[in-house]
Amino acid sequence: MNIAFIGYGNVGAPLADHLQRAGHNVVLAADQPLSETAQKALKRNSNLKTAPPREAVKEADVVFLATPFQANEAATGAVAAELEGKVLVDCTNPVGPGLAHGLNSVRSGSEMLQSLAPKTKVVKAFTIYGFENFENSAYPGYNVKPVMMFCGADPTAKQVVAQLITELGWEPLDVGGLEQALHLEHVTLLWVRLVRMGRQSPNLVWAALRR
Ligand SMILES: NC(=O)c1ccc[n+]([C@@H]2O[C@H](COP(=O)([O-])OP(=O)(O)OC[C@H]3O[C@@H](n4cnc5c(N)ncnc54)[C@H](OP(=O)(O)O)[C@@H]3O)[C@@H](O)[C@H]2O)c1
Repeated sequence: MNIAFIGYGNVGAPLADHLQRAGHNVVLAADQPLSETAQKALKRNSNLKTAPPREAVKEADVVFLATPFQANEAATGAVAAELEGKVLVDCTNPVGPGLAHGLNSVRSGSEMLQSLAPKTKVVKAFTIYGFENFENSAYPGYNVKPVMMFCGADPTAKQVVAQLITELGWEPLDVGGLEQALHLEHVTLLWVRLVRMGRQSPNLVWAALRR
């Protein structure tokens, strides 16, 4: 699969790295000259490719957005035409002062993103934990995989993202339509408060048990 990354810092770089190693053609949407972040990602995995943002997105089947939430408008606006019809994986979180919801819990960041890029198929995923768990998603000693919750409106796009989640070592858990994104963003805030403000390990993840 052709996958483009817009943003490849703490979150984007390990995901891009592991997806390339899983056999995908992964391209970083990068301006010339390459930023420090792009160079760092390439140092980590020299099989990652770079291309100007419009070209990278145009050729992609799936586009990951892993930018600071405030940059989403500029980042998607720069490739608006090329994004049309694409699966857009929203890895971003709106976080406000005091670790409150960045949009005052009135609307989710993903719904805002969908309105910024209306002709894309937005799927929110890879947001509910810190980047440490994207660096390494193995939890040896357990007979269940950590769960990656995701949501979106388009069933086909969600199937594609579920497959990528599985390849990265998670159990994909479809939590519903894009209206669920607000709740996922609160799950994220819970994790961040527990770990970044509290004393929980950054390797804390959730699992889904059923009977
Ligand atoms: N950090 C975490 O543990 C974590 C976990 C889950 C989700 N998230 C969410 O994931 C997103 C990224 O977080 P991060 O920690 O990976 O941030 P980061 O390390 O600061 O990386 C941000 C990336 O976005 C790029 N970027 C910034 N402005 C841009 C623009 N206007 N157009 C295109 N690219 C732009 C940066 O490129 P340059 O460096 O080249 O400027 C960099 O590659 C955030 O929304 C965050 O809430 C974070």
